[in-house]
Amino acid sequence: MSTAPADLFELAHAVAVKAYAPHSHFHVGCALRTAKGHTFTGCNVENASYGLTICAERNAVFHAVAEEGPSMQIATLAVVCRGEEFPPCGACRQVIAEFATADTVVWFLRNKNPLSMTMAELLPAGFRI
Ligand code: THU
Repeated sequence: MSTAPADLFELAHAVAVKAYAPHSHFHVGCALRTAKGHTFTGCNVENASYGLTICAERNAVFHAVAEEGPSMQIATLAVVCRGEEFPPCGACRQVIAEFATADTVVWFLRNKNPLSMTMAELLPAGFRI
């Protein structure tokens, strides 16, 4: 069991404050470290047409690709939500998996404590081409 990435949790909490969430009031923040050692963040951005909402995790991944390019690989990722606790949603698991390995570690909070799961645990038998 690895140590919780305090820096990623701190960045995720900081970016959650910037979430645009007037509809759900879920303020979500995500921070990830790439294999190259850079960190990137994202928050959720909602829309009046609810289905157009984008999650914090996907914004962080897309931000990382925009900066590092298509070879970007996620080493570790952390997600938090102000007043709530959950792992990445199914859509975000599929997007994270595109830039991760089965051993990539994803962190979130459970009962106020950091909990980690590997991508293999979060998305077993995921779609791959
Ligand atoms: N949300 C995320 O940002 N990440 C998740 O993994 C689950 C849900 C956001 C989307 C929406 O703005 C709000 O939380 C409620 O679903």
